[in-house]
Amino acid sequence: MKNDAVIDFLKTRRSTPVLQLAEPGPGKAELEEMLTIASRVPDHGKLAPWRFIVYAGEARAEVGDALAAIVAADDPTASAERLDLERKRLSLAPVVVGVVSTASIHPKIPEWEQIMSAGAASYNLLAAANAFGYGATWLTQWYAFDERAFAALGVADGEKVAGFVHIGTRKEAPFERPRPALADVVTWRGAL
Ligand SMILES: Cc1cc2nc3c(=O)[nH]c(=O)nc-3n(C[C@H](O)[C@H](O)[C@H](O)COP(=O)(O)O)c2cc1C
Repeated sequence: MKNDAVIDFLKTRRSTPVLQLAEPGPGKAELEEMLTIASRVPDHGKLAPWRFIVYAGEARAEVGDALAAIVAADDPTASAERLDLERKRLSLAPVVVGVVSTASIHPKIPEWEQIMSAGAASYNLLAAANAFGYGATWLTQWYAFDERAFAALGVADGEKVAGFVHIGTRKEAPFERPRPALADVVTWRGAL
């Protein structure tokens, strides 16, 4: 049966810039529901080739301190503003969820399919946060690709970061963003 509310939601949802996210964020019960939705994604072979790391409370600043230390070690001349930015990386939103791809070589399921499933989980988490009335945004940034940051983030060897979904209350309605014209992204073959 057609579900107009869901269609309208999907047609209008969008991300909220992290600087526009504020307290309050979701509590544990709400976040668990969102993570349950995030886990309900296409996943060839039922491998669950992803996992989630929730950064909340003081843990956000602890990771930020470690990120700032990496930047300071790489560039001893890094400005105080830059180091402050690094310290706040995970503290701008009340809750940040790291979506980690645990994809590995499998006899039947291509690694690419496992990686894409982590993208689907990230998107479902984003959409679930919006459905609960929160603003959210999916970011990576440098520390998603820097193995030195992985220890502080809790990402294990061999894992990859699909992204960090930042969740909070929108300070204002998100502005619209241009979307591609269908003609640019759709190839029709055969008539409907
Ligand atoms: C894997 C991935 C990583 C992203 N990383 C960043 C990022 O680091 N910085 C950024 O400004 N946007 C990043 N984005 C873009 C935003 O999450 C988002 O696509 C954009 O704000 C519009 O999203 P919307 O369609 O939900 O409005 C990333 C998107 C994806 C899919």
